[in-house]
Amino acid sequence: MSASSVPTRTQIAIVGGGPAGLMLGHLLSQRGIQSVILERRAADHVIERVRAGVLEQGTVDLLASAGVDERLRALGMRHDGIYVAFSSVRHRIDMAALTGGRAITIYGQNEVVRDLIQARQRTAEPLLFEVPDAAIHDLDTGHPRVTFTDDGRARDLSCDFVAGCDGFHGICRASIPADRLRTYERTYPFGWLGILANAAPTSDELVYSLHPQGFALFSMRSASVTRLYLQCAPDEDADTWSDERIWNELDARLTTEDGWHPARGPIVQKGVTGMRSFVAEPMRYGALFLAGDAAHIVPPTGAKGLNLAMADVSRLADAFDDYYRGGQSRSLESYSDRGLRRVWRAQRFSWWMTSMLHRAPEQGEFDYRRQLAELDYLVGSTAAMTSLAENYVGTPIA
Ligand code: APR
Ligand code: PHB
Repeated sequence: MSASSVPTRTQIAIVGGGPAGLMLGHLLSQRGIQSVILERRAADHVIERVRAGVLEQGTVDLLASAGVDERLRALGMRHDGIYVAFSSVRHRIDMAALTGGRAITIYGQNEVVRDLIQARQRTAEPLLFEVPDAAIHDLDTGHPRVTFTDDGRARDLSCDFVAGCDGFHGICRASIPADRLRTYERTYPFGWLGILANAAPTSDELVYSLHPQGFALFSMRSASVTRLYLQCAPDEDADTWSDERIWNELDARLTTEDGWHPARGPIVQKGVTGMRSFVAEPMRYGALFLAGDAAHIVPPTGAKGLNLAMADVSRLADAFDDYYRGGQSRSLESYSDRGLRRVWRAQRFSWWMTSMLHRAPEQGEFDYRRQLAELDYLVGSTAAMTSLAENYVGTPIA
């Protein structure tokens, strides 16, 4: 964007151009509300960053109603069920049958980001990359401002509201006075080593596995790319894992007695993710509204992170719309409370999936047998499978 086209005033200043910020900008644009999106990193970095890939039904529906699902419809892989494996046996949970036809769609978060950047660029509304030093000011005065440097020039952007979509390590949550924010946190004594491999998926649906050596997950990105994860130490150095060691461990933890196992192929990406549960309350301070990872983090086992971000920005866009159309601040006032109900439900589910499927270092044989009993109950009870399925496919985004 040329320097002269950076405005000095907008309605909504959006800090962060990940999925939350980009989707919010898109939804606002469709409602005729102006925004400026400020992203610290370069476009390629934001697009190529490998993240999760499970879209809930509500997220798919939201992307469709917002008209950004052309590639999703062509490339997304709808999955009606998942497998849960333990004691060397895979058990299928037919989520669609248990939830009146709701399903998940496998579509990489980086593809969602790519689609949203393209949609933004078509509108010609400001999306600024490589803005390293955004800072927010005067949140409690009615005249909030965001300052930043763009192309070496100091900028001052006045706005009606700031949307804090800058992820867990961003500046927005940190700008709220400590006595106005309460945080809840839990870290887990393990992480995930994730790989992308150029190998055709050998299962048509995801496989979540509990094994004496720890958790493993089989997922995919396309008909020729497999995504796999292994439970590891939270501070594991991915470089100590040769390709051979990774495949041997995946085979050990995933192979089932019917002979099923992942196919091997060249590993094209490798990385370690930490596991954390985190909630900041409330999701608002004055003119600042937090959305997505800036406000909450879930461990990846329930695949909820991106979906929660989408639910936040859908609610926030509607609340801004009510405000600008009818001068109604009621929806803005209830934004946090309504969001936190969904967030805590997702926290509960993600914690439960994580605890059921991982081996904690301090846990003994009793806990492992208890986990096996829980899984045994899960796959034998329609009520228990329905509970998992309802949570996994997610409730509609209101
Ligand atoms: N100024 C501008 N941009 C910033 C700043 C800053 N000070 N700090 C961080 N950012 C940017 C990051 O570079 C990133 O692109 O904000 C963006 C936040 O994106 P995400 O971390 O992806 O968070 P969010 O958009 O809330 O998406 C939710 O769901 O699957 C999970 O964690 C996963 O990314 C995920 C997400
Ligand atoms: C993924 O495909 O990246 C993925 C799938 C399921 C999860 C987490 C990540 O629970």
